Amino acid sequence: TVFKNPKEASINVAHRIASIIKEKQAKNLNAVLGLATGATPIAVYAELVRLHQEEGLSFKNVITFNLDEYYPMQATAAQSYVSFMNENLFDHIDIDKNNVHIPDGTLKLEDIPAFCLAYENKIGEYGGLDMQILGIGRTGHIGFNEPGSAPNSGTRLVTLDDLTRRDAARDFGGKSFVPTKAITMGIGTIFKAREIVLMAWNRKKASIIKKAVEGEMSSDVPATYLQLSDNVEFILDEEAASLL
Ligand code: GLP
Repeated sequence: TVFKNPKEASINVAHRIASIIKEKQAKNLNAVLGLATGATPIAVYAELVRLHQEEGLSFKNVITFNLDEYYPMQATAAQSYVSFMNENLFDHIDIDKNNVHIPDGTLKLEDIPAFCLAYENKIGEYGGLDMQILGIGRTGHIGFNEPGSAPNSGTRLVTLDDLTRRDAARDFGGKSFVPTKAITMGIGTIFKAREIVLMAWNRKKASIIKKAVEGEMSSDVPATYLQLSDNVEFILDEEAASLL
């Protein structure tokens, strides 16, 4: 679905999320959301905050699982995805912080596999993700599933691609300060969501969007695996869709 600009697209996605939350509230159920970081979803979160502050949308029944976190990463660091989520969403809404899950960047290396398995299981215990929102990296990564990721991959520790680290250099004051690894939900984890919404804006995403949507499915561009899913929708602005 192509929108005129990122703002209209973001409002649309935020309103879909709000509908899920309200439908679940009406049935006294939790809404289980898979959340993403990066510049792309910021306006979605801003609209959700507005819906909370101005229209009384409550997040008391919302359980969230974030896609990924750098490793190693202190939660309190400015570049952590914990800080990002707090600043852009959680600090401004009435969500119970016990319902928020973000991969832990402070674990000892040997504790990561058990943590990842527990993360995966916890999503299942809550009944699975009602919706997973995604951005896309210029390597074609979703979450931090870089080229080479398998379509059935689970939550795990991964090595970041050089292009991903270059793109993140701005946030860290230089590429050498960007962690070389991350903990990410797998492509298989993302696939289990009942609805997947991938968002991309601006011309700089046009070529990777063309590859993801029209390119041959390959682990070289992990987002091409989304072609296998019947539950995925790409939400684009005109610029990101311009090469389709
Ligand atoms: C990071 C995140 C991804 C995100 C990507 C694109 O690598 N781990 O989840 O999709 O950046 O970022 P942006 O939205 O800033 O273009």
